[in-house]
Amino acid sequence: MRSKVTVVGAGMVGATTAQYIAERNIADVVLIDIVENLPQGKALDLIEAGPVIGYDVSVTGSNSYDATANSDVVVITSGSPRKPGMSRDDLLRVNMNIVKSVTGQIAANSPNAVIIVVTNPLDAMCHVALDTSGFPSQRVLGQAGVLDSARFRAFIAMELNVSPKDVNAFVLGGHGDTMVPLPRFSTVAGIPIPELLPAERIDEIVARTRGGGGEVVKLLGTSAYYAPAASVTEMVEAVLLDQNRVLPASVKLSGEYGVDGLYVGVPIKLGAGGVKEIIEIKLTDDEKAALATSADSVRGLVEAMKTL
Ligand SMILES: NC(=O)c1ccc[n+]([C@@H]2O[C@H](COP(=O)([O-])OP(=O)(O)OC[C@H]3O[C@@H](n4cnc5c(N)ncnc54)[C@H](O)[C@@H]3O)[C@@H](O)[C@H]2O)c1
Repeated sequence: MRSKVTVVGAGMVGATTAQYIAERNIADVVLIDIVENLPQGKALDLIEAGPVIGYDVSVTGSNSYDATANSDVVVITSGSPRKPGMSRDDLLRVNMNIVKSVTGQIAANSPNAVIIVVTNPLDAMCHVALDTSGFPSQRVLGQAGVLDSARFRAFIAMELNVSPKDVNAFVLGGHGDTMVPLPRFSTVAGIPIPELLPAERIDEIVARTRGGGGEVVKLLGTSAYYAPAASVTEMVEAVLLDQNRVLPASVKLSGEYGVDGLYVGVPIKLGAGGVKEIIEIKLTDDEKAALATSADSVRGLVEAMKTL
């Protein structure tokens, strides 16, 4: 039997994720959206690409969750981007309600699924998905760190003119301002980057990584989707193929890194059934402080959601 992946939200990130999963031929894909005909149209287009690209998984588009029954993995990308005049709390309320309603239907139809949240604000939306699904926290996690470290890797590779395949990077914390890239654990073929680049240049690359999302938004007028979808696909594959990949992801901490009961980006072991292990490394005082700031910002959003 083939695995089954549902992608909720047939927008830019969702449809591109469906495309990448189909291209890897690793699971049947179901695309869900509230907009009529949109998931059906994108699914049909993806099926028609199959003979040329050479995949034979099925791709189904639907506005109903019946089609999602017994999915192994569900990716949540449904949500609204911030519109002019909208405050952060307005966006929080809109996406909280979307993620809540979507998760309820997912949990009812796929009680054993691993849920990977993509909708922003990411860590806060993971809390909503966890609380609504009632799933154990091992099966509810969020994608941010794979993307952030991919951007860090891309920039290091560009700077040193080496293949990005040989670059590994380590990023903790949340998206954006609260992201904590760790240069001492970021390497080119095993060589830590502080041995290859001057500190000022590393600081500039770190700053560009923190602003990586914004840089694309400025160019495109909308948020990135190729790299985000590639990052989600890597996580989906790790679960479906039980790869025990060591990847950064937003997971619920229970005392690790001095954080209790909050979703924060840390390295994990990801395989069948979701989070197999939270990997704790020793941080410097500065790194600890940066991670604490990241956790505080998630705590602020979780508190704000209680009043919405
Ligand atoms: N975590 C990350 O690294 C990361 C990266 C990029 C984007 N994002 C976030 O992902 C989300 C999606 O981004 P996008 O560019 O694909 O947006 P998009 O607007 O292109 O797509 C969102 C889709 O969700 C659908 N939708 C809205 N409410 C729904 C509901 N109740 N049920 C089903 N579908 C619903 C919309 O109709 C739309 O098609 C945003 O919140 C964005 O901020 C996160």
